[in-house]
Amino acid sequence: GASAEYEATVTSPVNIAVIKYWGKRNTDLILPTNSSLSCTLSQDDLHTKTTVRCSPKYKQDRLWLNGFEEPVVPTHGRGYRCLQELRQLRKVIEDENPTEPKLSEYKVHIVSENNFPTAAGLASSASGYAALVQALANMYNLTCDQTELSKIARLGSGSATRSVFGGFVEWKAGEDPLGSDSCAVCVAPETHWPSLRALVLVVSDAKKGTPSTSGMSATVSTSTLFEQRIKYVVPERLKDIKEAILNKDFKTFAEITMRDSNQFHAVCLDTYPPITYMNNISIGIIRLIHMFNSQVDPETNAPLGVRAAYTFDAGPNAVIYTEESNIKELVSIITHFFPPSQATSLKSYLPSAPSLFDIPA
Ligand code: PMV
Repeated sequence: GASAEYEATVTSPVNIAVIKYWGKRNTDLILPTNSSLSCTLSQDDLHTKTTVRCSPKYKQDRLWLNGFEEPVVPTHGRGYRCLQELRQLRKVIEDENPTEPKLSEYKVHIVSENNFPTAAGLASSASGYAALVQALANMYNLTCDQTELSKIARLGSGSATRSVFGGFVEWKAGEDPLGSDSCAVCVAPETHWPSLRALVLVVSDAKKGTPSTSGMSATVSTSTLFEQRIKYVVPERLKDIKEAILNKDFKTFAEITMRDSNQFHAVCLDTYPPITYMNNISIGIIRLIHMFNSQVDPETNAPLGVRAAYTFDAGPNAVIYTEESNIKELVSIITHFFPPSQATSLKSYLPSAPSLFDIPA
């Protein structure tokens, strides 16, 4: 009927890159300078839950983020662009089937919530835009596949491209100047490596310094190391880490992950003026993980090998990749050197992936 409402609710997970996306070749279409690769975390842990509803009664598009209304900015707003793309796809269906309700003409209300503190400085744009795009696609009954949806999520936030799939996901940079081949593909499903865990260490809940958009463009235009990274380093690493994932070769996976995090922060430091995202606690965690990885068996003196890998995004918080069997030992070592400020939040997220706890600044 004329007063009908249509709605859909989805949850979308966070993803943590092991080969970092940093740099756009087209800032308008969000086309990256390099392909990137991430692990999508479990839906049961960190996620965004989004409900969309459309109705002929609504007078304007509206959005509530974590309980507060945010403006929906027409034309330039990234959320608005995703919405318009999906409306277009809905319109095609309506044009082909005149009996379909004209949802593309209705205004939309969006309610989006993260189940983790936004203030914790964890990347929420990836799960946020992935959830928005998926919820709208469901409400509009679109038939397009996840790869198509990833391109629309890309218009919201680059890292959101990878959150439309679970498991190990590559965002292919693509070659088309219009971005038709800049999309996500699943390298391996989440069931592929069930012992892999991600530990999220909240080092600081202060809002991050340089936003990723302005940071990236400053790096692209001023860093001389950056060109080397894009040309010579990333292509090899992508090839090698995909192989390591398929072989469940933790040592290779971990080394590439740590090296790529370090190089991402090195090109940030090579940006002029320099960008620094890590703080002294972040550096302390790096040292601790390398100490952990150089431990020997107390009886045989044989090296225990690489059993943990750190990675840092555009902020001081660490994500540690490890295998289930090391979690207990790793957590006790980390909490020994960096006592959590809230013991309760330490317990509540273990042992499933990921774990979230606070380290006082
Ligand atoms: O999605 P954005 O524009 O916030 O970019 C995020 C970039 C990093 O998180 C630093 C790296 C990545 O690949 O996720």
